[in-house]
Amino acid sequence: MGQYTEEINKRRTFAIISHPDAGKTTLTEKLLLFGGAIHVAGAVKSNKIKRTATSDWMEIEKQRGISVATSVMAFDYADHKINILDTPGHQDFAEDTFRTLTAVDSVIIVIDAAKGVETQTRKLMEVCRMRKTPVIIFINKMDREGKDSFDLLDELEEELQIRVRPLSWPIDMGPRFRGVYNLYEEKLNLYTPSKQYVTENIEFKNINSPELENYIDPAQASKLRADIELIEGVYSQFDVEEYLKGNIAPVFFGSALNNFGVKELLDCFINIAPSPRSVQAVERTVMADEEKFSGFIFKIHANMDPNHRSCIAFVKVCSGRFERNMNYKHVRFNKWMRFSSPTAFMAQKKEVVDEAYAGDIVGLPDTGNFKIGDTLTEGEDLHFKGLPSFSPEMFKYIENADPMKSKQLNKGIEQLMDEGVAQLFVNQFNNRKIIGTVGQLQFEVIQYRLLHEYGAQCTWEPLNLYKACWIECDDSEVFDNFKKRKAQYMAIDREGRDVYMADSSYVLMMAQHDFPKIQFHFTSEF
Ligand code: G4P
Repeated sequence: MGQYTEEINKRRTFAIISHPDAGKTTLTEKLLLFGGAIHVAGAVKSNKIKRTATSDWMEIEKQRGISVATSVMAFDYADHKINILDTPGHQDFAEDTFRTLTAVDSVIIVIDAAKGVETQTRKLMEVCRMRKTPVIIFINKMDREGKDSFDLLDELEEELQIRVRPLSWPIDMGPRFRGVYNLYEEKLNLYTPSKQYVTENIEFKNINSPELENYIDPAQASKLRADIELIEGVYSQFDVEEYLKGNIAPVFFGSALNNFGVKELLDCFINIAPSPRSVQAVERTVMADEEKFSGFIFKIHANMDPNHRSCIAFVKVCSGRFERNMNYKHVRFNKWMRFSSPTAFMAQKKEVVDEAYAGDIVGLPDTGNFKIGDTLTEGEDLHFKGLPSFSPEMFKYIENADPMKSKQLNKGIEQLMDEGVAQLFVNQFNNRKIIGTVGQLQFEVIQYRLLHEYGAQCTWEPLNLYKACWIECDDSEVFDNFKKRKAQYMAIDREGRDVYMADSSYVLMMAQHDFPKIQFHFTSEF
């Protein structure tokens, strides 16, 4: 047992993910209320990017500014330290969310009972599956009319490609919603509309006992018995190990708005969710309870105020203990750095911290030293793996609009790419720079920031591309042949890797068919 094992075992670092409007903000807020981190409902709302503002990215950036404070929400609950990492709901910032998922040890997925699995959820789950992140599913809004619960379970298995296991089961829904039978705790949790909590929490081991009818009406009681029998018959016993391996997702039902089922979810979560685990570096596996500190930057948040061009680099502590004013090695620069005002995030407040342990997130004020994926250590050369870049979906040529400022433009582009705002490729045929993003908004953000922070002007030229894929091939003859054939569509990324820019899904399919020896990758880490 290491020196810090106790601290580390207490930690639960996770993210809540959902399609917008499923109830992520509401659930987060209720969790914070349990932790005593906030005291009034509504406190977290400011963090949400409002739908009315989707076309106005300045407004979105302002709201994102607010969200720095809620980037990490830490609180104590039942002897545990919980770190919730916030993820932007807006789909144009999906890349941010993907990266945040590299810094969590588990995930809670919120599903709207009426809508089932939606696009964003599907995409985010892909990342969880890739990383084998353990997930718990919370089916929300049971106080409203929704889909049949068994149908929902089938939909989850099919759409999210994960086995599920209900740990609570709803008694009716909508206006007739009476609560849930909590299979995990063997309790009957009763619901009364308009009451902001579980109204009754009754120990109830045997639902076949006629006493059930004392609490719920006979029709609901017999339906519940039949449902539970079916569940026990169809789904195997819940196995925590399988959950931790990312093979099975326990499912809870409730209503975040009514605070129903939230505490039960949290209680199960702290029991079964993993504490910080080992992290894979290129050189070796780094265990969370090692004595020496190591961590990586998974997110950089720029200040949009042009008078203070500063960023906060978010470090996930992977091992050991981080201390204020200690010297740590910035591995990429082979340079020692000292941080006098690292911050932690306690719910709404950002405060200077003296120490942090594996699982914690520390914010480091930065003026352009860091890029996503950078490692800090006590001296060892470590490079953490698993921070993938996904193939962007939108592409434009970027052109300099002010020849006197080309230096500024290049510096601005480099730094914005370091922050992970978008990805840069250079076309090998015409040597032009291509910016790839996941959403239209990023182009506007880049143009604005280049002008206001770097005094550089750019214009965009539309580029009709379908996907960028990183390609590899052991057979150099085949590889050269491919590159020749696709000369106009060959580019390199910032690391000098070969990237094929396919202009349509058909062309890509044909390329894969015609060149079976070439490997096409849709994320940049392989
Ligand atoms: P998000 O962060 O996932 O985007 O969702 P958010 O929590 O903001 O919830 C989206 C809407 O769904 C909100 O309503 C919220 O009040 C509602 N909601 C959340 N949980 C429940 C639930 O258990 N039952 C019901 N009936 N509604 C729920 P809104 O009208 O969009 O916002 P607001 O004006 O109420 O704040």
